[in-house]
Amino acid sequence: MSRIARRLPAPIVVVPTMGALHAGHAALMRFGRRLAGRSGTLIATLFVNPTQFAPGEDYARYPRSFPEDRELCSKCRVDLLFHPEAADVYPAGFSTTVRESAVSATLCGASRPGHFEGVCTIVLKLFEITAANIGVFGLKDFQQCMVIRRMVRDLNLPVRLRFVPTVREQDGLALSSRNRYLSIEERAQATVLARSLKAAADAYAKGERDAEKLRGILRETIAGAPLARIDYADVVDAESLQPVQRAGTNTVFALAVFFGRTRLIDNHWLRR
Ligand code: PAJ
Repeated sequence: MSRIARRLPAPIVVVPTMGALHAGHAALMRFGRRLAGRSGTLIATLFVNPTQFAPGEDYARYPRSFPEDRELCSKCRVDLLFHPEAADVYPAGFSTTVRESAVSATLCGASRPGHFEGVCTIVLKLFEITAANIGVFGLKDFQQCMVIRRMVRDLNLPVRLRFVPTVREQDGLALSSRNRYLSIEERAQATVLARSLKAAADAYAKGERDAEKLRGILRETIAGAPLARIDYADVVDAESLQPVQRAGTNTVFALAVFFGRTRLIDNHWLRR
């Protein structure tokens, strides 16, 4: 694949995924198609990356639906779907990884040890294998976008990054491969993530700048859903992902909430 990729027509636009594809992934692929144009190459990758799952997480039961995924890729006019075996990506005894240590320190990095090291390692490998000129990622995983941006900068990778806004269900729930784990009751209450982000955004729009008050609004709204258990609900700087005292134009509201064993994330970025 590495050798083939170097003969593909530029620009090579790459959309990394772990499969169980939904309309959020489709939005990335459609955007990727526009970036690649008719003459460039759109590559989607589908690989459930074992190294980004911590022990005890859902690696083994992560949803896998290759035939449907392949169908959606072809509908989105993907030129090439790269679907490797774990043994090809990680040779026996592999001992080289990529660790970003600042942006990865908080939020999901704090509650999922090793997660972003797994993400950085696989994304660098995928960029390298596919000879990517442009990488496309979703803002639903806001911290992931910022960690990858830092890695690309720090390692001088010849890759431009493009980020796509979060695609949501009608009731506001951000699309996620993990939504299919939710029971009917959990699914009904999962709208609390988007509702709490909206409550905080509304307070901000009315002039509230005190980050601790905004955190309180996030937490109180989530507490209204009895099945929800907060992992984090924070107000952070979009560059550093560190908590802020006052919210401003580059602030992000960031959430991770458990429903049973299912962990959902969402965020709202206060952009100019
Ligand atoms: P996965 O969760 O499959 O997501 C693949 C891409 O789709 C990511 O860039 C993610 O942010 C984006 N995405 C997921 N849900 C979205 C939504 N509702 N709206 C917009 N974009 C959405 O993220 C990963 O896989 C992995 O960590 C990966 C980058 C592939 C490395 O293994």
